[in-house]
Amino acid sequence: MSDDGDAPALSSHALAALQEFYSESGARTGPDRFTVGEVEEDWRMSQFWYSDETATRLAEELVREAGEGGRVACVCAPSVYQKLKQGSVLGSDRVAAVVLEFDRRFAAYGDDFVFYDYNEPLALDAPRSFDVVLADPPYLSEECLSKVSQTVKHLSKGKVLLCTGAVMEKLAGALLGVQVCGFLPQHNRNLSNDFRCFVNYPSRLLDAATPPRA
Ligand SMILES: C[S@@+](CC[C@H](N)C(=O)[O-])C[C@H]1O[C@@H](n2cnc3c(N)ncnc32)[C@H](O)[C@@H]1O
Repeated sequence: MSDDGDAPALSSHALAALQEFYSESGARTGPDRFTVGEVEEDWRMSQFWYSDETATRLAEELVREAGEGGRVACVCAPSVYQKLKQGSVLGSDRVAAVVLEFDRRFAAYGDDFVFYDYNEPLALDAPRSFDVVLADPPYLSEECLSKVSQTVKHLSKGKVLLCTGAVMEKLAGALLGVQVCGFLPQHNRNLSNDFRCFVNYPSRLLDAATPPRA
């Protein structure tokens, strides 16, 4: 997928140069070989990666809910996209996935990468009608969640899995009709914020227990 009209697109030469940079810097490239752990968190972009257990659990959920031949969109959640591509999640090869991201380091994912800035929630060069949309907005603000929710509704056929702070529960319910899950997402670094998953469908995550911390 290419970028939207407002955002400068990477030419094939630029993409090749980017991939070469990652190769030379020791990071691995390509959808099946690039691991999020190797992309350092940049706190200026509010990047906090899930623990491996949480990324796996969320990827399993997407595969189960998308079904055979289903399509999933990971909005601001590159580590779950990556988990789907690693081949360690049963059935992940039977779903199609895209990642919507602001950080162009993830352009290394090729056609699965869609440039996304939540400030322009509908300026997307992405197909629609995804069976499941997972979103993890970068900021805990009403403005950010409202704009990301516009994107989610634009992309979604129905099922929505939202990961954000517990403090956003009421607004998330009003915007997306989601309810909070028992499952507690965890991150590689401990966050000071109380974090939760929310769904708008009868998910196994609703009553699920928290995975043990690695
Ligand atoms: C809280 S992190 C979620 C990452 C997720 N926990 C994971 O492990 O994949 C928020 C994500 O939003 C992205 N982001 C930052 N600024 C953004 C913007 N203006 N528009 C869209 N996404 C943005 C970051 O690059 C980051 O991947």
